[in-house]
Amino acid sequence: MTVDYAAVTARQQVVWGLGDYGRVGSLLTWIGESLVRSLDVHSGERVLDVAAGNGNASLCAARRFAQVLSTDYVPELLQETQRRADADGLALRTEVADAQHLPYDDGAFDVVMSTIGAMFAPDQEAVGRELVRVCRPGGRIGMANWAPDSMIGDMFRAVGRHVPGPVGLVPAVSWGDEARVRALLGDGCTVQSLTRQTCAFRFPSTDACLAYFRTWYGPTMAAFTAAGDEGSVALAAELLAVFAAHDVATDGSLAMDVAYLEVVATKR
Ligand SMILES: C[S@@+](CC[C@H](N)C(=O)[O-])C[C@H]1O[C@@H](n2cnc3c(N)ncnc32)[C@H](O)[C@@H]1O
Repeated sequence: MTVDYAAVTARQQVVWGLGDYGRVGSLLTWIGESLVRSLDVHSGERVLDVAAGNGNASLCAARRFAQVLSTDYVPELLQETQRRADADGLALRTEVADAQHLPYDDGAFDVVMSTIGAMFAPDQEAVGRELVRVCRPGGRIGMANWAPDSMIGDMFRAVGRHVPGPVGLVPAVSWGDEARVRALLGDGCTVQSLTRQTCAFRFPSTDACLAYFRTWYGPTMAAFTAAGDEGSVALAAELLAVFAAHDVATDGSLAMDVAYLEVVATKR
């Protein structure tokens, strides 16, 4: 079964523009800081952030005085990145770009990175090729990808049971699998490290967490709309159960340590 990548991409682009992704992106600050540190980004380096959202990793690289180009296919998120950069007095540029067809020359960047971003594009082979292509020989490629067995992986599978996605689409969290990420990045680079990390999600309660995602996070909003009134009740119950299963708090609040794979590679 062949997937219509263009149609899926167009649909996903609408979904990521719903709500206010920045409210969720701001919870992932640690992921950007960690990846930029692992990539050892230096002042003056040309850094491309792919599927940058509201600029999580871009801002981290800009704090190191790198020449940052922050890209995403949702223009409103790039505007938010620019506002955040301006508020902190940081220099960066933004540009609309699809992770599957990056409009840049071969080898144009010293560092190419994507935190919890490029993993969502449907044509995973194209993304792997593009991340490597636009990196210069000897440059670094970095990714942070939710792990298949993480809370987010369970959340996506729960949503998929209620609102099935396109047939034949490889799950985004497969980018969090070591063998898969090696295969997708291919022979044009050498994988230097694959590190399992966690991002701390802390909420007042499972109900508060669900309300947060339903209010701000486009994919969750779209899932509830598609599930309809009746389906939404069952979907909500299942998501609450996912949160509860990953909760490590002992004080009645919600504490989830969400696993992801941090990838650092060098271009040959
Ligand atoms: C979970 S957010 C992560 C954003 C950001 N990198 C961060 O760390 O918070 C996923 C982002 O990927 C973007 N995205 C998904 N597919 C994309 C594609 N094919 N091309 C460009 N951006 C894409 C979405 O617009 C969204 O901003």
